[in-house]
This record gives sequence, C-alpha cells and structure tokens, in this order.
Amino acid sequence: MKKNKIFVACDSTSVSKVKRIMNLTQNSEIKIGYKFGLEFLNSKKGRNFILNLKNKIIFGDYKLADIPNTCVSTIKAIRDLKFDYITIHISSGLEALKAAKKVSKKTKLVGVTILTSLDNKGLKEIGFNKDVKKLVFHQAKLAKKAKLDAIVCSAQEIKIVKKIFKKEIITPGIRFSSKNNDQKRILSPKQAFKNGSDWLVIGRPITKGNIKKNIKTLIDHLNK
Ligand code: C5P
Repeated sequence: MKKNKIFVACDSTSVSKVKRIMNLTQNSEIKIGYKFGLEFLNSKKGRNFILNLKNKIIFGDYKLADIPNTCVSTIKAIRDLKFDYITIHISSGLEALKAAKKVSKKTKLVGVTILTSLDNKGLKEIGFNKDVKKLVFHQAKLAKKAKLDAIVCSAQEIKIVKKIFKKEIITPGIRFSSKNNDQKRILSPKQAFKNGSDWLVIGRPITKGNIKKNIKTLIDHLNK
C-alpha cells in the first residue's frame, strides 16, 4: 500500500532542535518530508544547514508575496538549496505566478491560497468580501492558469480545489488533538487524506512535547 505523506514543519531558529525533529520523526509507516518556514530560513545557521542536507524531501516555505521581478530574483537566489517545493502566495497575481513558474525549473512551485489561520471574519477585516471557499476556488483557477505544480489550502477546501486543479494538494491546519493554536480552518489527518490531500503539513502537534509519542499518536489515529 502507498504510504501517507506528511511534511513536518520544522519551525524553530535552532539547528539542533531541527535535527532532533528530523531524527525523531523518522518512521517506517509514513513518508516524511521537511518544511522550512520563514523562522528557520531566516535564522543564522538555517540556510547552510539546508544547503548540506542530502536525500531528503525538502520544502522551502518562502510564501513569496511580491512583484514579479522580486519573486523571480528570489527563486534564482535560492536555487543552490535545491528545494523540492517552494511556495508563493497566489495573491501575488497571475503575472508574478507565471514569471516565477518560468524560473522555478525542477523545484515544484506551490501556490498558497487563503491562509488556514483566517476565517470569514478575518477575511472581512482585511477587506475581502467573498467567503473563504469562493476565494479559494477563484485562486485555484489562477494556479491552474499559471501552471503551478501544487496548491496549499485547508483540507476543508480540497473538494472545491479538486474541481479545477488536478495536481498536488498540500494541506496545513491539521489537528489530531484538541489544541487549535492560531489555526482556524482545521481538519484531522484521517479526514484530510480521505478528502484527497496528497501531503499534510503538520507542525506543533508533532514538534511540541514528546515528538516520538506524537508520531505514534498520529500513526494510531491514521490506522484507526
Ligand atoms: O504548527 P502548525 O501545524 O500549525 O504548522 C503549520 C505550518 O504550515 C506552519 O509552518 C505554517 O507556517 C504553515 N502554513 C499554514 N497555513 C498555510 C500555509 C502554511 O499553517 N496556509
């Protein structure tokens, strides 16, 4: 049987903490990739650590949200890190997405839809009047137009996204305990895979507390 795939969010500024996360999350049941976000990417030793990684699936969560020229030059500037996946906000606009796609080469360019930390109320606050689901569907159309390789969305929106976007779907906002933290549009790992997610992104539910125990809880949850 094909293994479930999970990106563990290595959200820390400490190389030793990230090494611990990488060691302790290894297991035979789930295929694990590692996601590095702005915190680690901007830490003192983060870049060099990533440069020296071998034989790992790595995801640079840059969440680019900028003008086309800056998106393009940033992607060129990180080419030496050989990421398997990098992210760009779809709200950067179609021109930026297309320009970024032209230079991302072997690295899969992933379009980020509305952040999973936002709900309809949060969206209204920043001036968006459409509801989350409509906006995400609209953004999925843009991702398709720009020929992006994957989409990040909430697992609650997979079915909507799949109507229009046929490539990989990556879902953060995954919870298998009671703590939501700052996430609003959440779903359980089991339900997210059932909905058709290709990769889940999980951070704190795995990396806070006893990592080995958390992985075991996750595996038990998936096998139930
Ligand atoms: O700790 P938690 O499981 O909430 O971590 C989720 C990770 O996914 C974080 O690294 C966060 O930056 C990232 N992410 C997200 N929502 C998005 C895109 C990325 O939570 N829409």
